[in-house]
Amino acid sequence: MTQITPINPTFVADVNGVDLRNLTEDEFTRIYQAWLEFGVLRLRKQPLNEDELQVFSARFGPLEEIPMGRLPEAARKKIKNRYVTQLSNIIVDGNPIGGLGNSEAAWHSDMTYVENTPPASVLLGIEIPEQGGDTYFADQNAAHEAIPDELRHRVKDFTIKHDAAHTSVGKLRPGFEPFEDPREAPGAVHPIVMTHDETGKHALYLGRREWAYIPGLSLEDSEALLDELWSYAALEENVWRQQWQPDDLIIWDNRRVLHRRDDFDQNARRLMKRCQVLSRRDASS
Ligand code: SIN
Repeated sequence: MTQITPINPTFVADVNGVDLRNLTEDEFTRIYQAWLEFGVLRLRKQPLNEDELQVFSARFGPLEEIPMGRLPEAARKKIKNRYVTQLSNIIVDGNPIGGLGNSEAAWHSDMTYVENTPPASVLLGIEIPEQGGDTYFADQNAAHEAIPDELRHRVKDFTIKHDAAHTSVGKLRPGFEPFEDPREAPGAVHPIVMTHDETGKHALYLGRREWAYIPGLSLEDSEALLDELWSYAALEENVWRQQWQPDDLIIWDNRRVLHRRDDFDQNARRLMKRCQVLSRRDASS
């Protein structure tokens, strides 16, 4: 029987009693409802292969394809599943087998720089270092409740431009030119307070701190207001830390939480598999 056990008072739950390789419709419905309620779900002991990870993730919506065109021929041949990406510091034949390396990844939500932002991200632990590489989640419903009324009122009609050019470890993405001024950053504009399209709840929707800009303000005022908002984004009581074990699977609601990751020793091995669930609006456009 599917058991949903809350880990924190406000968000994150463990799901037990299911095998994601053989999920019934009823079990999936419980998981989906729990995901909307808690924002982050952890399922331990789920040794999924790439195809099984894809099948489970695709129940949440259309999946992002690896941009094959950008990969060298040799890397393309090694791809087993076009919808599963790897995050890893492991180097094979002189080439990294996945993204992000061993670097720290700063607080962010995924792909907020696109118009129709992705609802879900699924991450499966395969090889886990003894130390470091923990992933943290911060509840943005709670962050929205934590900000003072005066600040909430001040930002109610404001938006943020979300930088598309840099990764969460601060590297320039392929195809983008470097720039110095956040006002020049390419990327989509979204309200600072977002209303969840399924739950109707309000959350701070800050994306990433670096290269963000609040349209209509001077750069100085934008930076000051972003700093003020970010000071409420990851209050200790609203943050949960995942210490990975192999075969842990986490699915988070990208509209509800920020996440970040600790760095780790480059001599240790870390391998994660990941699926990005895209907005259904993208699929229908
Ligand atoms: C990320 O999705 O930003 C990194 C998550 C992780 O490697 O734990």
